[in-house]
Amino acid sequence: MNAQIPTQLVESSRIDSVNFDDPGFGDVFADHMFQMDYRDGRWTDARILPYGPFAIEPGALCLHYGQAVFEGLKAFIGDDGVVRVFRPDRNAARLAESCRRLCIPPFDESVFLDAIDRLVRVDRDWIPRRRGQALYVRPLIVATESNLNVRPAREYRFFVMTSPVRAYFTGGAVHLKAERRYTRAAPGGMGYAKTAGNYAASLLPGSESLREGHDQVLWLDGVEHRHVEEVGQMNIFFKIAGKVLTPDLRGTILPGVTRESVIELLRERGIECEERRIDIDEILHAADDGSLEEAFGAGTAAVIVPVGRISIDARTVVINNGEPGALARELREQIVDIQRGDAPDAHHWNRIVE
Ligand code: COI
Repeated sequence: MNAQIPTQLVESSRIDSVNFDDPGFGDVFADHMFQMDYRDGRWTDARILPYGPFAIEPGALCLHYGQAVFEGLKAFIGDDGVVRVFRPDRNAARLAESCRRLCIPPFDESVFLDAIDRLVRVDRDWIPRRRGQALYVRPLIVATESNLNVRPAREYRFFVMTSPVRAYFTGGAVHLKAERRYTRAAPGGMGYAKTAGNYAASLLPGSESLREGHDQVLWLDGVEHRHVEEVGQMNIFFKIAGKVLTPDLRGTILPGVTRESVIELLRERGIECEERRIDIDEILHAADDGSLEEAFGAGTAAVIVPVGRISIDARTVVINNGEPGALARELREQIVDIQRGDAPDAHHWNRIVE
């Protein structure tokens, strides 16, 4: 899509209202959004317009039956003034999988990339400059056809908004509660897709775990309630006796872009990284015998977040004295360096927005 698209710019920017010392996470949205609609069997009417409310019918199928998928990615501006978007092609590929799972018509990768380029370009001034900050890009597709039959909709809206953010977690190492009772996803379900419904399902267990004094839920598998899956906003990694373990992708966890990047960076560092089923008892034993060196989460919003404690049933294991581990810190710095252009992008992960 190289042609011009209808672009309506704001008359007066809201950028002066943003506290770039600490923009929060997702509290404020940049001036513009991108939209495109699906009707009569095709995606059409790409446009950029001021960020703001838009009307959908009360009968819109997304509101009733949850046909809604989304993505999350980040744009950076480095000290060299170059704007880089981190691995948007991987988000496009995951969006395609999410769409397939929810019977949403496929969205072309090149149109997805072009939409993000255009929007980031138009709101370039909103990209925070400080290390650790980014312009978070949130694309969604929702079913807009008004109808009450439980079936795939015939009309959709794709839209993208952006928000200047700091990292999702601001404290030190997080405290996870391994969840035995509730489940996030089951085999054959939609755990691998980035659907709004997966996040809705996490709210009650998340609130309970917060009330009990934990930061996040560590999801276990939905059948035996013993295999580690993910944290919800991040994938999970454990360093045990020099080797790193992370749950393999078997349809119930989100295939994270940061997860994929971490696995590649670990292997380049010569650190063995096994993707496989991980029984929570294995983690507890490793904590008991002193071989559990580190645990950390990895996600777009979170980047890399050290895990200091895991509680399960009546016990709590403390990891690395509850302090951020060296590997988590180094991986985070390495990823941020690549994203900001402070280190060479040997993997060609960044998409430069001219
Ligand atoms: C992301 O890391 O981009 C996510 O989608 C997590 C988000 C729900 C905060």
